Amino acid sequence: MEIGWMHNPRQRQVLVFFVLLSMYGASAELGPYSVVEETERGSFVANVGKDLGLGLTEMSTRGARIISQWNKEHLQLKVQTGDLLINDKLDREKLCGPSEPCILHFQVLMEKPLEIFQAELRVKDINDHSPVFTEREMILKIPENSPIGIAFPLSNALDLDVGSNNVQNYKISPNSHFRVLTRNRSDGRKYPELVLDKELDWEEEPEISLTLTALDGGSPPRYGTAQVRIEVLDINDNAPEFPQRLYEVQILEDTPVGSWIITVSAKDLDAGNHGKISYTFFHASEDIRKTFEINPLSGEVHLRSHLDFEAIQSYIINIQATDGGGLSEECTLLVKVIDINDNPPEVTMSSITKIIPENASETLVALFSVRDQDTGENGRVVCSIQDYLPFFLKRTFKNFFTLVAEKALDREERAEYNITITVTDMGTPRLKTEHNITVLVSDVNDNAPAFTQTSYTLSVRENNSPALHIGSVRATDRDAGANAQVTYSLLPPLDPHVPLASLVSINPDNGHLFALRSLDYEALRAFEFRVGAADRGSPALSSQALVRVLVADDNDNAPFVLYPLQNASAPCTELVPRAAEAGYLVTKVVAVDGDSGQNAWLSYQLLKATEPGLFGVWAHNGEVRTARLLSERDAAKHRLVVLVKDNGEPPLSASVTLHVLLVDGFSQPYLPAPEAEAADAAPAAALTVYLVVALASVSSLFLFSVLVFVAVRLCRRGGAASVGRCSVPEGPFPGHLLDVSGTGTLSQSYQYEVCLTGGSGSNEFKFLKPILPNLPPQCPGKEIEENRTFYNSFGFNIQ
Ligand SMILES: *[C@@H]1O[C@H](CO)[C@@H](O)[C@H](O)[C@H]1NC(C)=O
Ligand SMILES: *[C@@H]1O[C@H](CO)[C@@H](O)[C@H](O)[C@H]1NC(C)=O
Ligand SMILES: *[C@@H]1O[C@H](CO)[C@@H](O)[C@H](O)[C@H]1NC(C)=O
Ligand SMILES: *[C@@H]1O[C@H](CO)[C@@H](O)[C@H](O)[C@H]1NC(C)=O
Ligand SMILES: *[C@@H]1O[C@H](CO)[C@@H](O)[C@H](O)[C@H]1NC(C)=O
Repeated sequence: MEIGWMHNPRQRQVLVFFVLLSMYGASAELGPYSVVEETERGSFVANVGKDLGLGLTEMSTRGARIISQWNKEHLQLKVQTGDLLINDKLDREKLCGPSEPCILHFQVLMEKPLEIFQAELRVKDINDHSPVFTEREMILKIPENSPIGIAFPLSNALDLDVGSNNVQNYKISPNSHFRVLTRNRSDGRKYPELVLDKELDWEEEPEISLTLTALDGGSPPRYGTAQVRIEVLDINDNAPEFPQRLYEVQILEDTPVGSWIITVSAKDLDAGNHGKISYTFFHASEDIRKTFEINPLSGEVHLRSHLDFEAIQSYIINIQATDGGGLSEECTLLVKVIDINDNPPEVTMSSITKIIPENASETLVALFSVRDQDTGENGRVVCSIQDYLPFFLKRTFKNFFTLVAEKALDREERAEYNITITVTDMGTPRLKTEHNITVLVSDVNDNAPAFTQTSYTLSVRENNSPALHIGSVRATDRDAGANAQVTYSLLPPLDPHVPLASLVSINPDNGHLFALRSLDYEALRAFEFRVGAADRGSPALSSQALVRVLVADDNDNAPFVLYPLQNASAPCTELVPRAAEAGYLVTKVVAVDGDSGQNAWLSYQLLKATEPGLFGVWAHNGEVRTARLLSERDAAKHRLVVLVKDNGEPPLSASVTLHVLLVDGFSQPYLPAPEAEAADAAPAAALTVYLVVALASVSSLFLFSVLVFVAVRLCRRGGAASVGRCSVPEGPFPGHLLDVSGTGTLSQSYQYEVCLTGGSGSNEFKFLKPILPNLPPQCPGKEIEENRTFYNSFGFNIQ
């Protein structure tokens, strides 16, 4: 243990000076003495008696003792020996704290005589304390981008010891980023300073823990430790980063609004706000902003409005990711819109001819273009019309088509066509567009008027009033308008002698035919002429027809009695023998009628008689016969009036007066005549044969006609005698095939065999020979002819 005075003389002088001032009566100094702290009690410090030059007993005799202001006696004086001993362990730190040197002042007092000696004791430090950090753990927050060399002062450690026993040095546990420097404070204390040697990287090592050791200068040194936790502060040194620079999506054109499209996601290595990314469209066009939206937090891109492939096929969207520190990064989103078949084809008519002439071939009806805004199959179109129409479609160039009539059309066959142009695309589903065109076929005068019949037969009754409408002809024209307006005319007669212009006229507008004068069946039974019909087309077309006018008979002729001749100046007298049996044929009234048919059917009746009941008239053939036997009482002369009436409506009649003379016996000339051959052989006989032909129709079933041959032997006027020889008419009256024998009054009759062939409805019949009665004719010479006639023969002859 080293004991010695203060090594600094100047400091000691100052202390002495102070002691002198405070101590009244102080005479001398002792010491200085020194002692190491913590020295055991009773340890020797110094021998005060020796230092004062006193003898061994003098100390006790003088009554030496120690005086101090301490509240504890650190020292004791052994007066017997004069030794100054440690009374109590001295703790420098307690006595002086950090002050150095640590000096205790005391006085040695001598009572006899009073004498005071000033003395001081220096307590020397020993390294009995270790450095202690007041903070067991220090937390440092260091931004990761702090520059190399930057120093961070740390809290120092405290050591109660002083001097070299105090903290002398700091050390840090081994690490790659920091070293520690030991720094002097102005008060001499040492403190640690952490110096950055290598850049920090939060992303790599966000926290570093070190052990700081403080060492004092003792030997061996004592030490204390503390933990230093370094939190590396992230700085925004990382921009967000997209895993790919280009995102590509394909979406259908009809994707519903609001649909999710894609999520872009950037990563930022920074933490906290610096790593918090928000997404935005970058430099986006209005179209993009209208169509898409991006969730700034999640990066989800949604569809905001409808897509239209036809307007925009793809979008190039720049997306920016920005972190909280303002660093940003971009990526590109390529959105390809996939076409769907959402556009029907469009038809644009360039020209339409709505009216085409009927006989033009390959007429262009329409020129149109088609298009479809879709692409691919969705935009490929097929054009068609109904396949049963006489039109076809022709592609001219690109997407232009023509609609052409494939042949000359016939308006009369079809005047209107509804053509539906159907344009279909090939997409799924197929979309189609229809365009209807109505084409009217205009008329060309390609049809002549056509009469409804090639020939017309009209039944005009004779004696018509002039200007009578006798019938009509009609022609139709299949054309239209003026081309179908028909005008009628009479064509010049083939036979120039026919006075056609005076007979008929025609209304040019409606074809009504008029008789210009009263017709006379007996004069003109039929005539023919041609009528023409012309349309008003240009050039006009015409046609003609034959009109046959048949004049129908009217009952305008009264019966005409041929026999007996009615001449008052020369009456014909019939001779009847008184011996004649009942039914004797007296004579036969022969009459004709200029009319025909029923109008010419005659019937006879006895109108007046001198002696009623003696003679009878056969109604159908005009035969006059005796009704009974004659007697002597009957008068010789008789006068009969016979009425001849036709069957017309109203009937016309004629009367004839017969003179009959009854004679006795048979007179030769009245014998029955020889056979017909004999009569024929009589060349002198002047015979007149009347041929009466009648036409009659019976209901609708059949027609028949009857030919009547009447051989009449006319009375020959012989000499001056007024008595003539009268003939007997033979044959039935036409149309009356009645068996008259049943009447009982007449015993003789004419019979005909009529044989119809072909059954009911047939028009053909055979007319057979009449069976002549056995009676002798009164007038010699007669001729019977067999003939055959046809129902449709006209006219009659009188020979
Ligand atoms: C700190 O003090 C010690 C001795 O007290 C001295 O050796 C050293 O050079 C000083 N250091 C600085 C940086 O002043
Ligand atoms: C069409 O009809 C008119 C009038 O009949 C005629 O002039 C023209 O030549 C016809 N055209 C054809 C192509 O037949
Ligand atoms: C054509 O269409 C019109 C209007 O729909 C219709 O009145 C007419 O009868 C049609 N014509 C034909 C020939 O189908
Ligand atoms: C075209 O005509 C057809 C047949 O008459 C009809 O069904 C269709 O509706 C019409 N189209 C148009 C667009 O008028
Ligand atoms: C009647 O007979 C006389 C004498 O023969 C003749 O002159 C006259 O013309 C006849 N009359 C008629 C109407 O036939």
